[in-house]
Amino acid sequence: MIDINKQIESLGFETREPRGLYEPIAYALSTGGKRLRPTLAIVAAESVHNGGLINGDAIEQVYPAALALEVFHNFTLLHDDLMDKASLRRGKETVHVRWNANTAILSGDQMLIEAYKLLAQVPANKLPQVLNWFNEMASKVCEGQQYDIDFEHMSQVSIDDYLKMIEYKTSVLLAYAMQIGGYIAGATPAQQEALYQYGLHIGMAFQIQDDILDVYGDPNTFGKVIGGDICSNKKTILLITALETADPESKAELLQWIMTTERNEEKIAAVTAIYDRLGVREACDAIMEEHTSRALLQLDKLPQNDATESLRELAERLATRKS
Ligand code: IPE
Ligand code: IPE
Ligand code: MG
Ligand code: MG
Ligand code: MG
Repeated sequence: MIDINKQIESLGFETREPRGLYEPIAYALSTGGKRLRPTLAIVAAESVHNGGLINGDAIEQVYPAALALEVFHNFTLLHDDLMDKASLRRGKETVHVRWNANTAILSGDQMLIEAYKLLAQVPANKLPQVLNWFNEMASKVCEGQQYDIDFEHMSQVSIDDYLKMIEYKTSVLLAYAMQIGGYIAGATPAQQEALYQYGLHIGMAFQIQDDILDVYGDPNTFGKVIGGDICSNKKTILLITALETADPESKAELLQWIMTTERNEEKIAAVTAIYDRLGVREACDAIMEEHTSRALLQLDKLPQNDATESLRELAERLATRKS
């Protein structure tokens, strides 16, 4: 398996000028993270390529696209943290806090361009299709982010609206990572579809788990500020489930807190206590597990080899992740 961090270092952001533009990019890309999206693209490729883990040429052809997906993901984080007023990511200060909002915007824009430069290295016969998919994915992410922001100001958001929002902002990127990786390595259309659906469902489970960890995570391992979603009235799966299942008294209390924009610590404690009382976490865990199961079913449609086994383990590991 390639060393994704090494490949990222080789992009040279540590030295490029002007430093005001590239230093935050080097910073964002060096703070780690799970590197989930490039890993998915590469393992998807391995799963369909000659039925096993190999290090041949075909797999190497996936690397630029895999890196493009990671650089794109990190670009979205710079803008997302600005939009969400988040001060911490991967246990470190976010770019807009360490520098400023303009830096998060412009360095983020440059990262999007860098992602496309990497994508341009996809083998020429595969590039038009990959570019179409990448563009479709990138638009969906923006649309999902807009819904996410719109929902902050709405008190009624249905579970279906929520599911569409997270499919767009989070899951399509994982789905297309799988599909693009598989396609470059020669997946059949049926395999491409199975890879896409696997990515989509682990993506749904992944965002639901992210919502849960935003309340119940350990700040030391999660690396983000706990309670951020509660403070900004994000319509997370926890809040929507709570509003749908609450007794009239708890619902009134929740709606009251949603209108409060100050007293953050108190708000986090109060809303969390309501979630605890209603058993919301368990209900959300069950929805998450449903998506994990649906992802796992897709793997039966693929060649059975070490790579598909890795995908099976990955789906299970993500469902219990702490970071
Ligand atoms: C964070 O993604 C954004 C979400 C979709 C929840 P990750 O949790 O994959 O972030 P890193 O790259 O591992 O830090
Ligand atoms: C992630 O949503 C979606 C994108 C970054 C596109 P969140 O806002 O929940 O992600 P975190 O929690 O900040 O990582
Ligand atoms: Mg955020
Ligand atoms: Mg966000
Ligand atoms: Mg989140």
